Amino acid sequence: TDTAVAVVGAGPAGLMLSHLLAREGIDSVVVDHRSRREIELTARAGILEADSVALLVDSGVSDRVLREGSVHEGIALRFGGASHRIDFRELVDATVTLYPQTDVFVDLADARERDGGDVRFDVADTEVVDVTGDRPGVLFTDAAGVECEVRARVVVGADGSRSTCRSLVPETLREQVVREYPYAWFGILCDAPPSAPELVYARSERGFALVSQRTASVQRLYFECDPDEDVDAWPDERIWAELQARVAGDDGFALREGPVTDKAVLRFRSSVCEPMRYGTLLLAGDAAHTVPPTGAKGLNLALADVRGLAEVVAAALGAGDLDILDRYAPRALERVWRAQHFSYWLTSLLHRTPGGSEFDARRQLAELRSVVASEAGRRYLAEGYTGRFAGL
Ligand code: DHB
Repeated sequence: TDTAVAVVGAGPAGLMLSHLLAREGIDSVVVDHRSRREIELTARAGILEADSVALLVDSGVSDRVLREGSVHEGIALRFGGASHRIDFRELVDATVTLYPQTDVFVDLADARERDGGDVRFDVADTEVVDVTGDRPGVLFTDAAGVECEVRARVVVGADGSRSTCRSLVPETLREQVVREYPYAWFGILCDAPPSAPELVYARSERGFALVSQRTASVQRLYFECDPDEDVDAWPDERIWAELQARVAGDDGFALREGPVTDKAVLRFRSSVCEPMRYGTLLLAGDAAHTVPPTGAKGLNLALADVRGLAEVVAAALGAGDLDILDRYAPRALERVWRAQHFSYWLTSLLHRTPGGSEFDARRQLAELRSVVASEAGRRYLAEGYTGRFAGL
């Protein structure tokens, strides 16, 4: 098959890119080793910045996000046994939308199918070749067992945090900037009504907890844990006791409990890979950078990446000048590093470092009090959370 752009990875980054390119009249082929079902069933984050919602709606992917997403005008920061509201609407005149990434994926996959997009799930033995030539290719075996070869002008690696495309950038040129964290998240889905009207980000002596939501009858919650924690050591009663202890306070706030239907330990790190272009290969989304989950920036960054990338690829192919591709990374990296800092900061503000000192704990509480007591502090948090980074 001949196409203009070959995309490795049919997650939100790859599918949104393919969709945006199609709107510019540019053909693409997207491949993924996973099945559509497998991607749909993987629980991911749930918060969309207003710009992400606008991209989905304005580009014609979905208006379901407007009907089924729920607009959140703020969050609660909880520490010292009390909640403190951060009012995004009042502080930065912006909101975020709770709409799970799995739904974003379904909308994108449906839109590609509706528009006749070429998306191949369930492929095997994917190999990207000739990225420094002018006819790079992707070789793979399709779901029916047929060996396929797609030749393109540009290849995009949107294949996630364990990207294989990224390793095609020679090690001598590649700089991977990484920060590890000494903790992970234990994430659950449960059948219960919401415990609070908005998301609650809680700091406690026992560690961080996040009370998120899904629907009227399904909730998503997380608590900080050891990266090597064994999920089987956590029956429902123990999970609820731990979560309740982390959100408890003099105000009597308590979680509404229900059967836990999904549980997993989610490891994370901060990473940025440069360059984001090598010859005809470009990296987007988690393949290029990952952030810790606090603040749910990952999907929003991936969508911002491909919005810029679609423009740059269209300009480069239109002008027949691949040097134009160099405009992509500097713009993307501006936002990526702002979001890196925000995600790192919100994580550090709320998590308990194992073996941390008494000084660390008290300083952290003082920082939290500063943030909520100061309008400048609350606004700074609101700008980052809603993706309205000042000056960007
Ligand atoms: C969710 C995940 C996050 O990391 C976050 O900051 C907020 C919400 C979620 O899965 O709902």
